[in-house]
Amino acid sequence: MYFSTALAAAASIALAQAITIPVSVGYGGLLKFSPSAITANVGDHVEFTFFAKNHSVTQSSFADPCHPLAGGIFSTFQPTTNISSKVFTVTIANTDPIWLYCGQTEGDHCQSGMVAAINAPATGNTLAAYIAAAATASTSTSPGNTVVGGVLEFPPKELSVTQTVTQTITASWTQNGTDYASTYVSTYPVTYYTDAVIPISTISPGGGSAPTVLPGVGSSSSPSSTASTKGNAATAVGVNGYGAMFGAVGAVLLGALALL
Ligand SMILES: *[C@@H]1O[C@H](CO)[C@@H](O)[C@H](O)[C@H]1NC(C)=O
Ligand SMILES: *[C@@H]1O[C@H](CO)[C@@H](O)[C@H](O)[C@H]1NC(C)=O
Ligand SMILES: *[C@@H]1O[C@H](CO)[C@@H](O)[C@H](O)[C@H]1NC(C)=O
Repeated sequence: MYFSTALAAAASIALAQAITIPVSVGYGGLLKFSPSAITANVGDHVEFTFFAKNHSVTQSSFADPCHPLAGGIFSTFQPTTNISSKVFTVTIANTDPIWLYCGQTEGDHCQSGMVAAINAPATGNTLAAYIAAAATASTSTSPGNTVVGGVLEFPPKELSVTQTVTQTITASWTQNGTDYASTYVSTYPVTYYTDAVIPISTISPGGGSAPTVLPGVGSSSSPSSTASTKGNAATAVGVNGYGAMFGAVGAVLLGALALL
């Protein structure tokens, strides 16, 4: 009985795991958020990516579109001719509706329908009603120049590279006064992961030399490998992620060596 209760608890935690919901802002030159009707659970991350022209994500009340809600969400303006290098991420604290608009006055983006809602009700104060009210709103206004209610940062990346490693192991022993040696060749793919994004200019040149690792830029994690077939018995259990990212051969630890 106790055991099945524990399993049920684990299952519901897995279901509640936060997700990232991508939203494009002005994709294709359109004065649109896409999607504009966003549904998000508590803990989810709504991640806005800005496209050309010069847009913002700004929170208003339902009643007063195109004008900032005091203390509300504001990404600041993100001018770009293509795609912004930074994304704006809002983490959902509760499921109350959040009404959003682009505050760009040049071209009246909000009045043209560049609005969105997170968790808008299906009846009453609907997204359609907000869009209709925005269409007749007075000239948009925006808060100051400070990001509020979210994080503006370079998008997180997880990079991986798979490299084939060939390792030769020599074993030697003495039997009845005679020395013997046997070699084992093992070839296997090793996948290296890192979330570190290091400016190339900070990496020292020269094949195989260790790059400069900047403090606080992330770390390698979760190397994986596939053991070779029977008879080729080396198994990689640990690697150096930075070395692999930049062409140097990472340190391979031999976890098992079966002399068969
Ligand atoms: C982007 O738009 C804002 C608001 O209109 C403006 O203050 C800012 O100067 C614009 N930036 C660029 C580079 O056009
Ligand atoms: C726009 O951004 C995309 C995605 O990063 C890139 O593939 C494309 O080359 C860029 N276009 C221009 C004109 O910079
Ligand atoms: C061990 O070595 C000795 C001396 O070289 C030899 O006479 C003997 O037959 C060897 N035994 C085995 C089991 O090979």
